[in-house]
Amino acid sequence: MEVKELHKSFGPSSHVLRGINFKVEQSEFLSIIGLSGAGKSTLLRCINRLVEPTSGTILVSRSIFDPYADDSIADVAALKQRELRLLRRKVGMIFQQFNIVKPLSVIENVLTGGLGYRQSSLKSCLRVFSIDDRPRALINLKRVGLLHHRAYADRIVALKNGQVFFEGANKDLTESAVEQIS
Ligand SMILES: Nc1ncnc2c1ncn2[C@@H]1O[C@H](COP(=O)(O)OP(=O)(O)OP(=O)(O)O)[C@@H](O)[C@H]1O
Ligand SMILES: [Mg+2]
Repeated sequence: MEVKELHKSFGPSSHVLRGINFKVEQSEFLSIIGLSGAGKSTLLRCINRLVEPTSGTILVSRSIFDPYADDSIADVAALKQRELRLLRRKVGMIFQQFNIVKPLSVIENVLTGGLGYRQSSLKSCLRVFSIDDRPRALINLKRVGLLHHRAYADRIVALKNGQVFFEGANKDLTESAVEQIS
């Protein structure tokens, strides 16, 4: 998929995506990161047209959603209803509001999921987890590929103020680059 010069405005004073360009190869695992409000969800919503892009193109192989198609390229931003329906059958989207507790770390969120199994409410409130809990949480994180930092993605695109601020391999996202995104 190739995103070219993608813009989204929600009104004259709300230009959220300001010319996004990036490519993702077939089977590549790409993470999109950035501060709250950087435009990550808006970008993803443009990709399945839950949000209508203001301008720009989102190029994919037509064969992804149409088994009878040749190797031609389709612009998702310009698809008509019938093709859009076919495309949406191929685009999985997990929404972000899943009752995660934002100030807690990933492992604490996982551990908190086991609160109902714990005997003491006081320990639960103080987030004192038993010695068995942590390894169990780690096993579950591993099952969904979230244990090792490297498993987050093959490549990362970082957004800042609606623009691509960094694009590259995980190892190239240095501490100082992360600080500049934050
Ligand atoms: N439907 C909308 N109407 C007006 N403004 C919107 C709308 N959706 C998003 N925005 C604005 O666009 C900006 C980017 O929002 P978006 O939800 O894409 O950010 P995000 O990077 O996903 O943030 P978070 O990490 O908090 O999920 C924010 O300023 C937000 O208020
Ligand atoms: Mg979001």
